[in-house]
Amino acid sequence: MSRLTLTTRASAHAQGLTDRPAWKALEAHCATTHDLHLRQMFAEDTLRGERLHAEAAGLYLDYSKQRVTDETLRLLRELADACGLNERIAAMFRGDRINTTEQRAALHVALRAPMDEHILIDDKNVVSDVHAVLDRMAAFCERVRSGAWTGHSGKRIRNVINIGIGGSDLGPVMAYEAMRHYSRRDMTFRFVSNVDSTDFVEAVHDLKPDETLFVICSKTFTTQETLTNAQSARAWCLHTLGDERAVAKHFVAVSTNAAEVIKFGIDADNMFGFWDWVGGRYSMDSVIGLSTMLAIGPENFRAMLAGFHAMDEHFRTASPEQNLPVLMGLLAIWNANFLGAATVAVLPYDQYLKRFPAYLQQLAMESNGKHVSLNGMRVDYETGPIYWGEPGTNGQHSFYQLIHQGTHLIPCDFIGFCETLNPLGGQHDLLMANLFAQSEALAFGKTAAEVKAEGMPTALVSHRTFEGNRPSNTLLAERLTPHTLGALVALYEHSVFVQGVIWDIDSFDQWGVELGKALATRIAGEIADSGDPELRHDGSTNTLIRRYRRLRHHA
Ligand code: F6P
Repeated sequence: MSRLTLTTRASAHAQGLTDRPAWKALEAHCATTHDLHLRQMFAEDTLRGERLHAEAAGLYLDYSKQRVTDETLRLLRELADACGLNERIAAMFRGDRINTTEQRAALHVALRAPMDEHILIDDKNVVSDVHAVLDRMAAFCERVRSGAWTGHSGKRIRNVINIGIGGSDLGPVMAYEAMRHYSRRDMTFRFVSNVDSTDFVEAVHDLKPDETLFVICSKTFTTQETLTNAQSARAWCLHTLGDERAVAKHFVAVSTNAAEVIKFGIDADNMFGFWDWVGGRYSMDSVIGLSTMLAIGPENFRAMLAGFHAMDEHFRTASPEQNLPVLMGLLAIWNANFLGAATVAVLPYDQYLKRFPAYLQQLAMESNGKHVSLNGMRVDYETGPIYWGEPGTNGQHSFYQLIHQGTHLIPCDFIGFCETLNPLGGQHDLLMANLFAQSEALAFGKTAAEVKAEGMPTALVSHRTFEGNRPSNTLLAERLTPHTLGALVALYEHSVFVQGVIWDIDSFDQWGVELGKALATRIAGEIADSGDPELRHDGSTNTLIRRYRRLRHHA
């Protein structure tokens, strides 16, 4: 749908946000500053590059290459005030049921709170529950890692396969890849998510069942993909081990739904529980991170939690001017709603963060991909932008052309580290040189005059000109550690929340995934039907199903 259509259709509905004086002031300000170029902003303020930064929990944010003036930032903070951001932050940390459509708290901050903190839900301190589960996880992981926990035939566990999808996969796989340097190299970790059988078959093709532990991760334990893959895993295991009792040694479940876990055949003793106030996409630091802890050990896992908590505390207490998640959230609003950017490119210059953009896609887009406000009215402004990205430098040789010279405005988040975990000649310096070069080129470009001065033939000047004025953040940390990873993830969690508060949407529900799930269940029944089921979909869907039914056995 074009931007114009969306705006026109929506204008008949709720207009709370866009009616606010702070919003209108930003619109007026945008109209007068829209053509201001970063070249000019840096020329007029020689300290801009040093001034426009904030630092917390080991992360340094340079936002000087965003298309903002001090006035823009002031107006954005005014908007945040008008939207009650401070109170909403306090409500989240208090454990209020801010996920209003599901009547739940969104209390992921409790997952990394130190033991002596008290966060109450229904008069119960959840922090002590969190630590009890953490201790149980740690004890289990130590047993598996030390070889004390053995498989059914007495062999030690060498392979761990996490089966889950969405938040029960993307967080664990991202964290495993990010923390691979700290992981047990004598163990194999794999992640199966897709209901496509290829995912499972390829994951186990070179593994032995008697050395393999499956971690079945599902908050609800009703997710079709996960349960189907778990059944395949069970069959694969029992095919070789030939004894139902093997399940107890080769399967553990992570879920909030004990009844379904037991129904599946996993012993309650082998279940690790968590709570409905942990959203799927906010759960990688809960017991959903069991595979992460198995890989990196309890101590590193706790260091990661400390990183999360350091960013939580910063978010809760720092002034808006210095507050990284608030700044990043408000800059995202500016880019999306005033400069008209529909997407955000996340560009980690670290191979270990190769799954970070995919992880962020669920975090940001399942949270803020909403078109109704908290009161159920259609919004008349754009909400959640599309997140995407690839690690540098690979993206440079793929899609950066469009970011530099295309017609879309694409704000970028560059993420880099001062020290590599794998020093190899001068490669890290080269990697970082590329990061700095890209953000510089995007911001400042190359004028036609500069191109001409290089003696370029006139016909090529426009092709070789870079407009610049493409905004970016740069996040710099010393090195990728468990602590840094925790801080980085918490930074994005909270920045997504800040955006949701401004847009007045429920960032913690995900009703948009339901219709497709229901239809898939119905269609699966129609495909499985051995007779000639009456199909009552639209003409296109009916034709596709019939064609599939006719051809599927001929492949
Ligand atoms: O895709 C919808 C969703 O509910 C996600 O929010 C969630 O992370 C994923 O499915 C998996 O859910 P579960 O952990 O309950 O299997």
